[in-house]
Amino acid sequence: MAEFPAPNKNPEIKCTQVFINNEWVNSVSGRTFPTVNPANGEKIVDVQEGDKADVDKAVAAAKAAFELGSPWRQMDASDRGLLLNRLADLIERDIGYIASLETIDNGKPFNNAVGDIRFSIKVYRYYAGWADKVQGRTIPVDGSFFCYTRHEPVGVCGQIVPWNYPFAMLTWKIAPAVAMGNVCVIKPAEQTPLTALYTCALLKEAGFPPGVVNMVPGYGPTAGAAISEHKDVNKVAFTGSTEVGQIIMQASGMSNLKRTTLELGGKSPNVIFPDADMDLAVENANEAAMTNMGQCCVAGSRTFVHEDIYDEFVRRCVERAKKRTVGDPWSNVENGPQIDEEQMNKILSLVDSGKEQGAKLQCGGSRLGDKGFYIQPTVFSDVTDDMRIAQEEIFGPVQSIFKFKTMGEVLRRANDTSYGLAAACFTNDINTAMTFTQGIKAGSVWVNCYEVVNAQSPFGGFKMSGIGRELGEYGLQQYTEVKNVVIKIPQKNS
Ligand code: NAI
Ligand code: MG
Repeated sequence: MAEFPAPNKNPEIKCTQVFINNEWVNSVSGRTFPTVNPANGEKIVDVQEGDKADVDKAVAAAKAAFELGSPWRQMDASDRGLLLNRLADLIERDIGYIASLETIDNGKPFNNAVGDIRFSIKVYRYYAGWADKVQGRTIPVDGSFFCYTRHEPVGVCGQIVPWNYPFAMLTWKIAPAVAMGNVCVIKPAEQTPLTALYTCALLKEAGFPPGVVNMVPGYGPTAGAAISEHKDVNKVAFTGSTEVGQIIMQASGMSNLKRTTLELGGKSPNVIFPDADMDLAVENANEAAMTNMGQCCVAGSRTFVHEDIYDEFVRRCVERAKKRTVGDPWSNVENGPQIDEEQMNKILSLVDSGKEQGAKLQCGGSRLGDKGFYIQPTVFSDVTDDMRIAQEEIFGPVQSIFKFKTMGEVLRRANDTSYGLAAACFTNDINTAMTFTQGIKAGSVWVNCYEVVNAQSPFGGFKMSGIGRELGEYGLQQYTEVKNVVIKIPQKNS
């Protein structure tokens, strides 16, 4: 394992423009928008604000880079893998700088930013390996024909990225798309454009041809919508809220039936059975609810605890939450600030709704300090299924603890939501674990662990948590079209 990188609390901001055809340009409108440091609420820098006109330019560049005969289309698949590995090398070289940018732009503790970037390096290398290993089939069809399939790139991929894991979510989008020979037009979240823009500088340095990856920073309803409505964009991939996922699905349907993959919200259940290892379950339940300040699509935001251990479990969760360290993201803390004032206020209003609807606030529940967007780790007990904190994605450091009696009951209640992203259970009984993993409706299910996400295995949601999968071999399916080719074989005597 490489040495832990040193933080740079005042990183030079090198990239703030629109990136098209491997060139940095100002936005067509000339407008800019500020990106803010959530730790103090102050502006870091102004970034060029892309809109429809910039997306049009980026899509045209991507489309040209995808023409047959272009350098990108002529490149050997193994060389695409080489470029991805080179990019991973450059990210490794600059990890201290990139993690520092992530910390000032997003507010996450520097240690966590380093973790996100190390994980992203693995994802780039994983997909680098796939570049020349995806193959079609030869199919023995009826009649005298030679039939085979080709797995071809889809073309121009529009990719819209959220702010909670800016660098990692960007990686999940770029790596499989490029490995399969696609071209990209990407919009980072308006709250966190900086590491995404710096990645463009590294893509260029690694040797990616012009037009293969283009980036338009800007807002969702303008630049984001222009991507999802664009007739020359063949595929759209989005991570973010379910509400916006529905808008994107509709836009891609009404424009040109883009291939659409969505990784959306969740209200993931974490079920603690009475035989569970209590220390392990308490620790994981806290982390599941509060990691990344709770701004995590798979957050275990509903902790279901068996009645036999309920009181003891609640007591220990409260004890653990009170110990959770919150503060300056450059120091050795578990939680930094929330992403912005809007999200902070949304979380606080959901906490208020919990109190009003009769949940018992065991600890936290308030803003911490008056500078930056910090929230105290918060635990509610006596939460019932009808409350807003039981139904809505909070996206903050809030753990809601429910009581249950039987397996049948907890499966029904755990599944009784429009979401289906993730779930976990803690038990030492193989039968309990097997029944739970089979009965729960979620794209990721963990037993005696939480949020174990790997480059090699798929990630995505059931129901309104999304469509399609990212990561692993499954993550490649969304980035290829299958072409069936049939060639007549003349018979000797015909
Ligand atoms: P959002 O869904 O609005 O933002 C995610 C991305 O979508 C951003 O890049 C944004 O610019 C873009 N976007 C927004 N409107 C768009 C549109 N009409 N067309 C195309 N792109 C558009 O999420 P927001 O408002 O930042 O956060 C609201 C809630 O969404 C959070 O409180 C949380 O519950 C959820 N969320 C879930 C995430 C996940 O990882 N599943 C990530 C971010 C937010
Ligand atoms: Mg929004």
